[in-house]
Amino acid sequence: MLLQKIYLANATEPVDIRVADGKFAAIAPNLQPLPGEEVVADCAGKMVLPPFVESHVHLDTCLTAGRPHWNLSGTLFEGIQRWEEYKPFLTKAEVKERVNQAIRLQAGNGIQYVRTHVDINDPKLTALQAILELREEVKDCIDIQIVAFPQYGILSYPHGRELLEEALKMGADAAGAIPHFEFTREYSVESLNICFELAQKYGRLIDVHCDEIDDEASRGLETVAARAYETGMGDMVTASHTTAMHSYNNAYMIRLMRLLKLSGINFVANPCVNVHLGGRVDTYPKRRSMTRVKELTAEGLNVSFGSDDIFDPWNPLGNGKMRDQVFMGLYTGHMLGYEEICNSYKFVTENAARTLHLGDAYGIAEGKDANFVVLDAKNWYDALNFDVPVLRNYRKGKLIASTAPVQKEVFF
Ligand code: FE2
Repeated sequence: MLLQKIYLANATEPVDIRVADGKFAAIAPNLQPLPGEEVVADCAGKMVLPPFVESHVHLDTCLTAGRPHWNLSGTLFEGIQRWEEYKPFLTKAEVKERVNQAIRLQAGNGIQYVRTHVDINDPKLTALQAILELREEVKDCIDIQIVAFPQYGILSYPHGRELLEEALKMGADAAGAIPHFEFTREYSVESLNICFELAQKYGRLIDVHCDEIDDEASRGLETVAARAYETGMGDMVTASHTTAMHSYNNAYMIRLMRLLKLSGINFVANPCVNVHLGGRVDTYPKRRSMTRVKELTAEGLNVSFGSDDIFDPWNPLGNGKMRDQVFMGLYTGHMLGYEEICNSYKFVTENAARTLHLGDAYGIAEGKDANFVVLDAKNWYDALNFDVPVLRNYRKGKLIASTAPVQKEVFF
């Protein structure tokens, strides 16, 4: 298969891409079709990116908004309460049906890699069993990475530690924690010690729901970073949300930044949901409650963007489209400088791939698996601004999703 005259990311000169046996066989200008080779002509002039990476979502809760009740206060804590009301309805088949729908939404929007948190504060681990099965069933089209997520805490939920360990034994890819939701500061620190201990015991990654609260005294992050540094786990560790950082005083932030850089951990902001759930206890001014993306990025730390929730108790909207997270993240983070806009696709591609530890397998280069998407624009600036569809989503050279270009006509 030969795609002619496409633009790789923001390149100003077009190249051709040859795909053979599921790999990028050649990437160069003016490649000539081989005898019998399929030529994909309708992608000429469009931009190509590696597939989008969803670095933080909860697939187990997706598509449950309003069932049985809507989250009317719009707070994180009412969301947890609504989810608790839904949990009795969970069965393996029900979870798989919903998650299958969500995965298809994602694939249609150019996603091929998903890190999902799965609530393991459930004695039966129903959702985990369902998504472990699904991970196998869809692996030819989409990679699912599972974080064992203790929604109510490791020490503040009966047998929380045992459930976390069981989830890792069953095959979860990463250990989670939720230090800001533990009963006490002491539990918060100890829960992180347990998370690191178990991740090391089973050779897993770590992704912590860290300080997702507007409490400037919520400082789980310093413990996460210190443990990542001391254990040498470094970039195997991710701190998700860290929304309390929005409210830290700058004197503390300066001291903390040194530790963060030493640790080398990854960060995930969830711009839409952070803004939606944050600032809920404020009158005016209301905090934006997104972590300091601009400052972390400027210090060389790896930051990616996730959706967090797709039409569930924490987010009544959500469409599985990473572009929307970039759009909101840039506005919320004061990052609408020209270069910042042009490079912002990295928050949901290469930065997110680093968070997931995808390694050299990810990206567009000769010899790699031909995983890529074609967007209906010549560059990312236009793709973002005009919210263009992902025309094609290719996995190992095979088309797994497509969208027809939108034709608008104006009659004056
Ligand atoms: Fe989350």
